[in-house]
Amino acid sequence: MSFHSVTQAPARLNRSELAVPGSQPQMFEKAAQSGADIVFLDLEDSVAPDDKEQARKNIIEALNDIDWNTKIMSLRINGLDTHYMYRDLVDVLEQAGERLDLIMIPKVGTAADVYAVDMLVTQIEAASGYRKPIGFELIIETALGMQNVNEIAAASRRNESLHFGVADYAASTRARTTTIGGVNQDYSVLTDALDSTGARATHWGDMWHHALSKLVVAARANGLRPVDGPFGDFSDPDGYTAAAKRAAALGYEGKWAIHPSQIEFANDVMSPGTEEVARARDILAAMKQAAEQGRGAVSLGGRLIDYASIRQAEVLVEKARQLQTA
Ligand code: GLV
Ligand code: MG
Repeated sequence: MSFHSVTQAPARLNRSELAVPGSQPQMFEKAAQSGADIVFLDLEDSVAPDDKEQARKNIIEALNDIDWNTKIMSLRINGLDTHYMYRDLVDVLEQAGERLDLIMIPKVGTAADVYAVDMLVTQIEAASGYRKPIGFELIIETALGMQNVNEIAAASRRNESLHFGVADYAASTRARTTTIGGVNQDYSVLTDALDSTGARATHWGDMWHHALSKLVVAARANGLRPVDGPFGDFSDPDGYTAAAKRAAALGYEGKWAIHPSQIEFANDVMSPGTEEVARARDILAAMKQAAEQGRGAVSLGGRLIDYASIRQAEVLVEKARQLQTA
């Protein structure tokens, strides 16, 4: 291990994160009853400019009056390039900050963006006498943000998670895509001839792979949770599940749900399976036995188990423990 130790963000379940427009208060109760680990009430892109003010009021009322039970609550503020952002923070934090756990900052471009919000939040918290510090969820969704993702991830002790905002990222990089978070046949490999008939196969690729990979490294190197963003076609559960599985395979802890129907798929994919956890427990038991016998590596079911396997197994068992106590 490096001498540099990575401080981990507070452990929170973040398998599913439900987006709820602040301008649609009729959706709030359902969100509170849903199985989402985190609910973010949105003031940004799902709210039209003329509705911003009313949406703020709706959110303040909802945070104070609705029984959100143990739900982790987040507020997506408007971007730092708008004139809405300061009021989003001042109004909502002053009037309902006690019930907020997280603030989601969209389109973060530089570490200074995070610093600016941190400064404002710190002042409001101190003036309001709040004891529980609010954490930050940062959406990486522009070319600038992706370029500076490492500095952004390290920019504040409030940082808890990095989110891949694929819709704005596509717009910012001018990627050729039509559905949010979907795939594009143009991003594929055409094989050479497979047989004497000259038949060739097309293998679709994941055009988001590089961005997802870069973000997961920045998040993990700074002790933050990597969370995958939206999948727009909520009538395509299989496409959603496939995208969630790709993200989970890379190390992501969760995925957004832009529709309540997507929550169960995110929770399912992002929870470790019973067999996986049982195997992790076997690994830990086998390694404990090996350590007692002075051995550093053992084989279990015909596969080599070493210290790296222990660390992976510990992560899984810890996640299973969190789920049980959730
Ligand atoms: C989320 O905000 C996105 O742009 O994908
Ligand atoms: Mg966005």
